[in-house]
Amino acid sequence: MAAVLCPGSFDPPTNGHIDVIERAAKHFDQVVVAVIANPSKEPLFSLDQRKDLLVDVLSHLDNIEIASFDGLLVDFARTRGISVIVKGLRAVSDFEYELQMAQMNSALLPGLDTMFVTAKPNWAFLSSSLVKQVARYGGAVDGLVPPLVGKALEEAYRVSPPTEHT
Ligand code: PNS
Repeated sequence: MAAVLCPGSFDPPTNGHIDVIERAAKHFDQVVVAVIANPSKEPLFSLDQRKDLLVDVLSHLDNIEIASFDGLLVDFARTRGISVIVKGLRAVSDFEYELQMAQMNSALLPGLDTMFVTAKPNWAFLSSSLVKQVARYGGAVDGLVPPLVGKALEEAYRVSPPTEHT
């Protein structure tokens, strides 16, 4: 059975992430979506919150498992016996960093390959960071994230609204 890994911060999951995961789920038998603590990012949502959101927004797929971990991706892949990572590529600007990660992962665990899925043009501008910025200042995120994620963003920023400078 061909299982692949779709790793990411997913803080929060966007329609772009969902599109990539749906396409991976169409081509492979099993997709393990791994929500990872990225030490270079300060997340809005906890690992458990992100995992719960993904479980809900991917509930229409039956060959998906959602997992979360804090550590090296290669260790997770090794433990699960997975040798293919699937990631989305939006633009040339993603390429340099993604290439670097793919090569580092393959150096750390020879035989671990990364395959890229190109983003659909309608999601090419979309990122979790931009979505958070829009939501933080009260902008509409409908159509960019699933409604449940929109509600979670609204709730997160209601609890901790932007401060006003006088
Ligand atoms: O959604 P992101 O933030 O672009 O995903 C990046 C992520 C989480 C996949 C990457 O930072 C990662 O794999 N982190 C786990 C730690 C690790 O293995 N670091 C070395 C990667 S080369």
